[in-house]
Amino acid sequence: RMLLFLSFLSTSLLVAADIGNGAVPFTGPPQRPGSTPTPGPNGWATYTPQTYPDSITDYTQCQMPGESFLCDPNRILDGNVTEGHQQLDHALNTIRSSTQCACTSADANYGTCKGEGGYTVSLALVDKITLDANQDNKVDRMNAAMKFANSLRNLQDRGQCEDDILIFLSRQDQVMWTSTGPIAERALTAELINEVTLNAETYFVKGQYTAGLSYTLEKYGQVLRGEQVDLTPPSGWMWPFPLWAVITIGVVLGLVAIALIGLAIWGCTRCCCQEKDQYTMGTRM
Ligand SMILES: *[C@@H]1O[C@H](CO)[C@@H](O)[C@H](O)[C@H]1NC(C)=O
Repeated sequence: RMLLFLSFLSTSLLVAADIGNGAVPFTGPPQRPGSTPTPGPNGWATYTPQTYPDSITDYTQCQMPGESFLCDPNRILDGNVTEGHQQLDHALNTIRSSTQCACTSADANYGTCKGEGGYTVSLALVDKITLDANQDNKVDRMNAAMKFANSLRNLQDRGQCEDDILIFLSRQDQVMWTSTGPIAERALTAELINEVTLNAETYFVKGQYTAGLSYTLEKYGQVLRGEQVDLTPPSGWMWPFPLWAVITIGVVLGLVAIALIGLAIWGCTRCCCQEKDQYTMGTRM
């Protein structure tokens, strides 16, 4: 556990120091999909940014019923995939409609606001990135994800003025990378991306891709709307009670524990004093 944590920490530092744009590789080794997921029409095809389908024009290949900012050609989501697609598609559209275009007249060299809503976030999912045979360690996979995400974002060019964001996730490579245009990066900084990605990992390591991606989109949406963002790591444990009830019970149990300890100390000192008395009496006799 410690080893895992340390390797994790070192890669996070590497990300922060060398690359700056958020990605945190998962700690687990790459895995072949289990028996539950069903492959898309292309089987477990791997993609390059050039061969990856465009979810606006090739939405059928992306497994979507219509134009979308979500593309999942390998159907890698867990649970009810159709429901997952609907949920994530809705979250992506909500971010676009609930945010403002961020470009000012000073950013004219990037383009201008076209009145098409705010930040465009795209979500590109794959089962596996094409890697050279000798490239399969964690850093290779992370670098490949970074390149894939940056190339695909540039190819799709969905922003109005470099205010687009692309989240790329490869299931077998166990890596998620968020690529941001220079304008989007002002709001969604590398630090925020790293924190959200680290938190989302608690879902991904359990194979909960829909939940992890929903979490990521929820947090990115809050950041891009300028709202207060709670970045405490999700416990992954769904409390059957509301948080206030858990805290109240915790406080009561804490008070009871303090009372018991106090009682024990009081009892002990009484006990020791009596023994001491008896001993003293004993020597005297
Ligand atoms: C999956 O979700 C969709 C949309 O909510 C629903 O129509 C469908 O019946 C569900 N499929 C299964 C197998 O539960």
